[in-house]
Amino acid sequence: MAAVQLAGVHKQFGDIPVLNNVDIDIADGEFMVFVGPSGCGKSTLLRTISGLEKVSAGQIRIGERDVTRTPPAKRGVAMVFQSYALYPHMTVFENVAFGLRLARLPKDAVRERVNEVAKTLQIEDQLDRKPWSLSGGQRQRVAIGRAIVRNPDVFLFDEPLSNLDAALRVQMRLELIRLHRRLQATMIYVTHDQIEAMTMADRIVVLNGGVVEQIGGPLELYHQPRNLFVAGFIGSPKMNLLNAEVTAADDHQATVTFGGGHEITLPVEQAPSARSVTLGVRPEHLVEPDSQRASDLTIGGEIAVVEQLGGETLAHVAIGGDNTVQVRAGGDSEMAMGDTVSLGILARQCHLFDASGMALTAGSAPVPSDSENVATAASTS
Ligand SMILES: Nc1ncnc2c1ncn2[C@@H]1O[C@H](COP(=O)(O)OP(=O)(O)OP(=O)(O)O)[C@@H](O)[C@H]1O
Ligand SMILES: [Mg+2]
Repeated sequence: MAAVQLAGVHKQFGDIPVLNNVDIDIADGEFMVFVGPSGCGKSTLLRTISGLEKVSAGQIRIGERDVTRTPPAKRGVAMVFQSYALYPHMTVFENVAFGLRLARLPKDAVRERVNEVAKTLQIEDQLDRKPWSLSGGQRQRVAIGRAIVRNPDVFLFDEPLSNLDAALRVQMRLELIRLHRRLQATMIYVTHDQIEAMTMADRIVVLNGGVVEQIGGPLELYHQPRNLFVAGFIGSPKMNLLNAEVTAADDHQATVTFGGGHEITLPVEQAPSARSVTLGVRPEHLVEPDSQRASDLTIGGEIAVVEQLGGETLAHVAIGGDNTVQVRAGGDSEMAMGDTVSLGILARQCHLFDASGMALTAGSAPVPSDSENVATAASTS
């Protein structure tokens, strides 16, 4: 087991910079997820940790060792790719055993270790089969088995589940979480799927254009996005981001107008540097008035589209000034296309971003309004 430290990592291919001054400290035993849009440099960053890619500048440490110039095989890492890269002519047993045989482990020890790993991954029944006869999920388990069997200090996963169908992806996600808990190993996991990131990670690194935008726990990124990019990337459906104008502001609060005349005053950490700002409200923080929650502002709108998902309802609501917001309500919501609706907003659940994209607010309050009501009800009974 080992911590991983990246300090000032730069990488360029020819003249093209791909990673820019990346600093990340990953704790021993942590499940760290790198997330970001396609082409932002996730795989490249992972490959610099594995040693498959050399850094142009900066330092990589694994445990106590500076491994910046250490060849991949000597770094104590194991990597699992999206394409399982199994040896087609070998059985599952031989695929898993390959690394151990290469390391000249005695035959009995190899068998014992492979059986142990097969049990962990529930592939004991498939050890004699060839990869072509396995399902995608089974193949991916074999690829993971091949990584586990060597007892690496650090596991590196590059989108290992993206070839699987949705149901299997959810199942494998849970299995990986359990596996992490059992092995207590340091795991670094790359995905462009923010749901995968949110559900699996101890902490998440949000990458964009080769730059680290923010590092934090899933709920920290959700509630306190440091900038517009993170605000728009984390959360599904996405945070509503609306053009707004500052009408009054000091270092503690700002009053803004948006959506053709709505006005709200928000607590801020610093005064906006320009009149033009972006107001952010998550779909789940726009609440129908029958939820009996006090609101700082109620806005009216017309429902343009309703998506009934069973457990929840998503509505697109035109709120004036050419703005449409997405609203998330319960599965029993009676919102219907063409209806008018009023939506309550709490100032402390809103985000405000400067023209540069930097967050001016401390972030939305993590306490959901429902539990607040419950708490009040409980304390008065
Ligand atoms: N060997 C290479 N030579 C030149 N450019 C490369 C090379 N490998 C990657 N790149 C470029 O570096 C950038 C980052 O690529 P990378 O594969 O790390 O992105 P990614 O975040 O993993 O994307 P995806 O989600 O699509 O896998 C891309 O613009 C890519 O074209
Ligand atoms: Mg990639």
